[in-house]
Amino acid sequence: MRPTVTVSYAQTLDGRLATSSGSSQWISCPASLLFAHELRASHDAVIVGVGTVLKDDPRLTVRRVPGEDPLRVVADSALRTPLTAAVLAGGAARGTVLAVTGRAPERRCEEARSVGATVLRLPESAEGRVDLASLLRALGGMGVASVLVEGGAGLITGLLRARLVDRLAVCVAPKILGSGIEAVGDLGVRELSESLRLTETAVLPCGVDVILDSRVEYPNGGSGN
Ligand SMILES: NC(=O)c1ccc[n+]([C@@H]2O[C@H](COP(=O)([O-])OP(=O)(O)OC[C@H]3O[C@@H](n4cnc5c(N)ncnc54)[C@H](OP(=O)(O)O)[C@@H]3O)[C@@H](O)[C@H]2O)c1
Repeated sequence: MRPTVTVSYAQTLDGRLATSSGSSQWISCPASLLFAHELRASHDAVIVGVGTVLKDDPRLTVRRVPGEDPLRVVADSALRTPLTAAVLAGGAARGTVLAVTGRAPERRCEEARSVGATVLRLPESAEGRVDLASLLRALGGMGVASVLVEGGAGLITGLLRARLVDRLAVCVAPKILGSGIEAVGDLGVRELSESLRLTETAVLPCGVDVILDSRVEYPNGGSGN
């Protein structure tokens, strides 16, 4: 069995998770950041794409609420995460996994191991990136039962396209950007009947934001499980 997958991010009312220059800190209000840290504390692992590491340099630890740090995971086919990245800094209880493919040079893998990271070499997807179903299976094999995905857009879209998301917790902030990075990219939906449906939605006012916390259902049923 793969771990359960929750995707969580903050977006503007017009569906952007960053400006066109990639700036996203902070779209949500302080109360919503507390919610984000509570989610971290309640999952075994947290995953981001390497684009988020390169842009935001997140620590992915639990700081604003009491709780244990999750295992930190980066989807990073070619191992572009800098050795100085905050996500590789020591101190997090469960350490850091870099999920790479055959594109990652062995020398880079050795360097990452030397600073304490676990390097998981996984099969490639059809797009030449980390195969996300394989990543989830590998994490399941490491005892991870629940995964929180914190973005960015590329990873969120890849997981939704692969039907691997069980729960979506989206913070909607009362801001409008116009242009910017879309939270969710092309899922191949051409007809409304093909849209992903959000069910059992809890609507949580959070400061000036609203959080929509839902189960994800896919057209024609089924999932990536
Ligand atoms: N508002 C929010 O809540 C929030 C949260 C997070 C990030 N952000 C913003 O989002 C932006 C970054 O988004 P992004 O789309 O550029 O980066 P991303 O989703 O964090 O990372 C995308 C990269 O992950 C790697 N990857 C490996 N396997 C993948 C797979 N199967 N599917 C998709 N990606 C895979 C790819 O690089 P390789 O091919 O090199 O592996 C890909 O380019 C930043 O501006 C950041 O500030 C906002």
